[in-house]
Amino acid sequence: MSGNGNPNAHEKVEKNIGLMAVLIAVVVSFGGLAEIVPLMYQAEAIEPLPGVKPYPALELAGRDVYVREGCYNCHSQMVRTLRFESERYGHYSLAGESVYDRPFQWGSKRTGPDLARIGGRYSDDWHRVHLINPRDVVPESNMPAYPWLAERGVDRDQTLRNMRALKRLGDPYSDEDLAQAPEALAGKSELDAVVAYLQGLGRHAPKGGQAR
Ligand code: HEC
Repeated sequence: MSGNGNPNAHEKVEKNIGLMAVLIAVVVSFGGLAEIVPLMYQAEAIEPLPGVKPYPALELAGRDVYVREGCYNCHSQMVRTLRFESERYGHYSLAGESVYDRPFQWGSKRTGPDLARIGGRYSDDWHRVHLINPRDVVPESNMPAYPWLAERGVDRDQTLRNMRALKRLGDPYSDEDLAQAPEALAGKSELDAVVAYLQGLGRHAPKGGQAR
């Protein structure tokens, strides 16, 4: 720049911290816009992968319990595009898998393992025992126990309200999905719901890629 610009203008900017802050914000946000805005229009980032549907009632209820209990404080749900990650967990995560996650649970804090591909890896019974007391199946585990999940029933009315709200936001729940929800939730504990949710995670992961 030296020699070209108007030296007075340069001095004005350098001596006026307010003006400088505004100009810095403009420059920085231009970089952000150039990177972020195109993503908002890319089909692969905003459209569901084939077969991805909004959560069935019981899984949605389980997801709410997962969020309430703060499982995300120790578990991410995003397999990174690194070889050692896909060898351990399975195919790396794609944005189109989580279009119906509000809010998404990607995270980066991994006190425990990533859970994006946990579905089907263990039996329902394993998960039940593990959630009630992790030490019963993983002796060295430092994961907290969640025994109350087995004693509490799912909040049916709240889950129905959530489904209706998500539908209003554009999630393609059919009238049939809503009509069947009360039955799907009847008599279920929060433990049933969390296990259903966990068993569904990774269901839509692309096949192929790195094996687990
Ligand atoms: C304080 C941290 C912490 C919290 C909170 C936590 N976990 Fe864990 N979790 C762990 C650790 C550490 C392990 C690995 C040892 C084990 O399997 O118990 C683990 C393991 C797991 C596994 C088995 C993963 C695998 O690949 O073997 C599942 C499933 C799981 N947690 C679910 C949950 C759920 C659901 C919640 C919330 C109700 C939760 N965790 C809360 C730390 C945590």
